[in-house]
Formats: sequence, C-alpha cells, structure tokens
Amino acid sequence: MLITILFGPPGSGKGTQAAYITKRYGLQHVSTGEMLRDEADKGTELGNEVAPIMAEGNLVPDDLIVRVIESRLRDSDTQRGVLLDGFPRTVPQARALDEMLRRSGRKVDLVLFLDVPEDKLIQRLLGRAQTEGREDDNLETIQNRIEIYHRDTEPVLDHYRDQPSTAIEVVDGDAPILDVARRVRDAVDRHYRDAA
Ligand code: AP5
Repeated sequence: MLITILFGPPGSGKGTQAAYITKRYGLQHVSTGEMLRDEADKGTELGNEVAPIMAEGNLVPDDLIVRVIESRLRDSDTQRGVLLDGFPRTVPQARALDEMLRRSGRKVDLVLFLDVPEDKLIQRLLGRAQTEGREDDNLETIQNRIEIYHRDTEPVLDHYRDQPSTAIEVVDGDAPILDVARRVRDAVDRHYRDAA
C-alpha cells in the first residue's frame, strides 16, 4: 500500500493531477478541501464551522482536520493506499499523521511536490474564478492563501526531508496539464522501481 502526499501551493494542480494518479495506481483520493466544501454545502455542524474560515482563505484548526482525516483513514476504501491532497498543511498536522500511521504500521511513502511559480498560481486561480465561482478564488483571498502556504505549509516539506523513510519527488508543474501528468507518472514509477 502506498501513502502519498500530493503537495503544493494553492493552484499548483493537486486536484487536477490527483485524477490521473488515482486511476493509474488504484489509490483513494482524499482531499481535505473537497471534504470540507462538501460539509459546508450540506450545512452540517462541521460545515457551518469551517465555511467562514475557508471563505477567508485561512486554515481550519489542526485538531479539527486531524479528527476528520483520522476517521477517513479508518474507512475500508482507504486501506489499499491513499493520495492525500491538501493534508498535512502544517507541521503539527504532519506529526499527527505520522503518529496515526505509525499506530497501524504504516508511514508516508512519498511526497510529490508540484512546483509552480507564484504568478502562474494567481493566473490559474483567477481563471477558475470565472468558471467555478469558488468563494476563496478572489485576488485578496488567493494572496492570503499563498502567504499562509509559505508560512505554515512549506515547513511540512522540511519535516519529510528529515525522514529518510519518506521519498520526496519535486515535479515541475509549470507546463500543460498532460505534460505535468507525464512527469508525475514518471516520478511515481521511479519511486515504485526504487522501492522494489
Ligand atoms: P483546498 O481545496 O485544498 O485548496 P488549495 O490548496 O488552495 O488548492 P486548490 O484546490 O485551490 O488548488 P489545486 O492545487 O488543487 O489546483 P487545481 O488542480 O484545483 O483547500 C481549501 C481550503 O480548505 C483551505 O484554504 C482551508 O481553509 C481548508 N483546508 C483544506 N485542507 C486543510 C487542512 N489540511 N488544514 C486546514 N485547513 C484546510 O487547479 C487550479 C486551477 O488551475 C484549475 O482551474 C485547473 O484547471 C488549473 N490547472 C491545473 N493544472 C494546470 C496546468 N498544468 N496548466 C494550466 N492550468 C492548470
């Protein structure tokens, strides 16, 4: 079973690339952003709590999102392998993930980092605002999300760089979607080959 983190700033293409990887490797896509948006759309207690935080582009509290993930990773469809998208987003979340995986004899195998320059991120997210109308896709909120990414999320990469049992693959994500998908595929294949 492969536990992979799809890592990168807002707009780097995590959701887009997840579709290709899960199909090829039979992994379950676990996107915390999608899970929270779904709760907000349904108007559940959790959804109502997180909606205003998400609308401003801030992170929801660590303990809340860790509980959500812990419960999801107990589901039977996540036992063959998962692709985590949007989690962990802080070092405390990464530590909590490591601990919950350790308890079941698992670990993070691979971190795939989608590297995209900031001007392209903003361009993509403003483009998506025209078609999808996500509440957090406006310039002010996008800039806040990118700032939070640099401050709170980037250190998660260093956390995994310090762990010899986790591989990190940096993928240049500044290319057409199918080209990036090929690069991601090569990176995951390389990991499988090296791990074999
Ligand atoms: P989340 O949903 O995770 O948002 P995000 O990280 O900001 O990521 P995005 O979905 O905006 O971008 P993406 O990298 O998936 O890119 P995508 O493929 O969509 O989180 C939302 C909120 O939920 C957070 O702000 C926070 O409030 C909360 N939250 C979630 N997880 C949390 C956690 N762990 N802790 C605390 N809070 C949490 O692509 C973007 C656009 O670019 C699309 O239009 C796409 O078509 C286009 N595109 C993609 N690839 C390319 C390409 N190669 N070339 C051109 N266009 C491209």
